[in-house]
Parts: sequence; structure tokens; C-alpha cells
Amino acid sequence: MTLRVENLSRAFTRYVFAKRVSYSSDDPGGFLNEVFSRYLSRGVRRERVYAVRGVSFELSRGKVLVVIGPNGSGKTTLLRVLAGLLAPTEGRIVLDGVDLTHAPFSAYARHFTYIPGLTASGALWLNAGLTARRCLELYAEAYGLDRSRVPEVLELVGLAEHADARVGTFSTGMVGRLVLAAGLLKEASIYLMDEPLVGLSREVALDVMGLLRSLASEAKATVIYATNDLEEAERLADYVLFLHEGRQVFYGTLDEFRGLARRLVLEVEGPPELLVEALRGAAVVDASGGRVKAVLSSLEEAHEVLRELSARGIPFKSLRVAPPTVEEIYMHVIRRRGSASAGAGRVASS
Ligand SMILES: Nc1ncnc2c1ncn2[C@@H]1O[C@H](COP(=O)(O)OP(=O)(O)OP(=O)(O)O)[C@@H](O)[C@H]1O
Ligand SMILES: [Mg+2]
Repeated sequence: MTLRVENLSRAFTRYVFAKRVSYSSDDPGGFLNEVFSRYLSRGVRRERVYAVRGVSFELSRGKVLVVIGPNGSGKTTLLRVLAGLLAPTEGRIVLDGVDLTHAPFSAYARHFTYIPGLTASGALWLNAGLTARRCLELYAEAYGLDRSRVPEVLELVGLAEHADARVGTFSTGMVGRLVLAAGLLKEASIYLMDEPLVGLSREVALDVMGLLRSLASEAKATVIYATNDLEEAERLADYVLFLHEGRQVFYGTLDEFRGLARRLVLEVEGPPELLVEALRGAAVVDASGGRVKAVLSSLEEAHEVLRELSARGIPFKSLRVAPPTVEEIYMHVIRRRGSASAGAGRVASS
């Protein structure tokens, strides 16, 4: 199985009123807005906004792609396009050489399982009064899947001995496993998981991540997983795709990603102009409010910077060396891209 996504974009039309109220064309209200804009008001503009822009990647069976990005960066939109729930505006989705781009929803549903969450919304089809086995049999019937594989998938997710227990007696983690079992009923299922662990306790989340990892390494599942949690990305990913304002700012293996993430953030308080000067060579990601923040690649680099500060006799009030947050990595990636295209060195001050 190979999934190839080429230059995928999805735009929305936004109606911007003079009073700055905006509506989406995907809302039924969009129609009324259109009427309003044509006949009643001159103060309405139509704006085209790209939620996802030019995303490309290739994924083979048994691999996990983690899509990471801040709020509003386009993760959910990307997953909904891949699930066949939203049509792409540009680009192609090709699965095993077959172009799915304009295929009907049913064609997508045969290959993709969209899971918005492992607790509530991901498990609406579950009936608490039925056994796990019966729930899966009904699911198989509803989606035209092979019922005879129910015992096999229960075994895969470690629920074989609970097959005849009622789902109402299951713990949250067991429900999560059952949701995954349903996805596995499809041969070569590609899971599209949108922050599925939100709301689960850490213990259950670790359990589910372990299960996903082992399903993937046995090539039983292929996963595209959206999150803004670096730790989840590190635990799960074979590949990482970074989105920022809909654009793909980084795509690479987990190791390449670690090269970015395993850095230190040095925060120094003091006169900004002097600090930026002294931090020459380090990637300054923020210089405001009497503080300068730089991303460093090693402790040695931190030592060097400190030596430089004291050699220049620059007084500083405080210092923090810590692993970067997701936002700081974005800033770093974005600045680096910016300075690379401008042909400048590593320093980029704000
Ligand atoms: N139906 C829509 N109409 C107009 N704009 C939309 C629509 N759906 C999403 N957008 C816009 O597209 C952008 C990406 O949204 P999306 O929900 O994909 O981001 P996200 O990365 O999943 O964010 P979060 O981390 O908050 O879940 C946002 O700016 C959002 O406002
Ligand atoms: Mg989202």
C-alpha cells in the first residue's frame, strides 16, 4: 500500500461583512449570506482562505505520519480531506496508483477510518448493552466488511478475552481498543486520527500509543495522526509533517525532526541590543520586553554564549535553559526557512 498526496490544498470562501462577521460557505447559512450580499448589502466581501496549501507526502503501509501544528494550522482540514469529507481544491490523492481525488465518499471510506477521538465522538456506533463481539459484527455488516475477521481483530487489540463482555462494563482504554479493532476490520486500513487522546488519562493514552505503535510495526495499520503535542509525536512518528498557516514548513523522518526538537532554549533578560549582538551565531527567535530568546543546538553552545556574555561584561538578570516548546520550534523552523531563502546566515533577529 502506498498513499501519495501531491500538492494538496483546500480553500474556503469566507464572507466578510462590513461589521466583520464572517461565515463559512460550508454552513447552510452561507446561502443566505450570499443572498444578503447580492441584494441587501454592499458591505460584504468574499474572501478565499486556504486552510491547507500545497501539502505533499508519501506513506507506505505500517508507517505512522504525525501531523503537528499550532491551532488553526490546517490539521483537521487535511484529515477531513483525506477522509473524503471535504473535497480538495487542488492537488491529488493517489492510493496504490489509483487516483482517489474526485472519488465518492464510499471509495474513501473503504480505505480510511476517520477517528476524531477515542472516547466520545469516535465511538458513537457502540452500543453499551451489546458485547464487544456483537458490536463489531454489526459494524462489519453496516460497512460491508468481512464479519469472520472479528475474532482476529479482537485478538490484535488485546480484547479477545473480553469479547463476550458488554461494552458498558469496559474501561475507557478498552473502548479505545474496540474503536481501533473496528478500523482494523478494513483490510489495510489507514487511520486518520485527530487528536484522539484528548480527554484520556495519561495511563490510557500511553497504553493506546503503545498499541498503535505495535499495530503499525506489524504493518497491521497505517496512521496519520494530528496533534500539537511533541511527546506524542516522538512516541509515535515514523515521519513528521509540520503545518503552519496551512503550509508544510517541515516534512521528514522522526530523526530529522528530533534534530530540530532536541534543542535548548536560552532565555536571557537584559538590554536586547547588546544581547542580540552577543548571541551572534545562535538563532534568536524572540527579542522583546527586555528578554531575548534563542534556540541552541547543544549545551556547549550555551556555555559559549555565556562566556561571550561575561567577556563583554553584559549584565543579565535571569537565564533559562529548557527544551523548546512546539511554538518555539515553529519559530525556529520558520525563521530558518526565511533566512535560508534570503541567503543569510543563521542569525535572524526580530
Ligand atoms: N468551514 C470553514 N470555513 C472557513 N474557514 C475554515 C473552515 N474550516 C476551517 N477553516 C479555517 O481553516 C484554518 C485551519 O483550520 P483547522 O481546523 O484545519 O486547523 P487545526 O490545525 O485542526 O486547528 P486545531 O489545532 O485548533 O484543531 C483555520 O484558520 C480555520 O478558521
Ligand atoms: Mg483540529
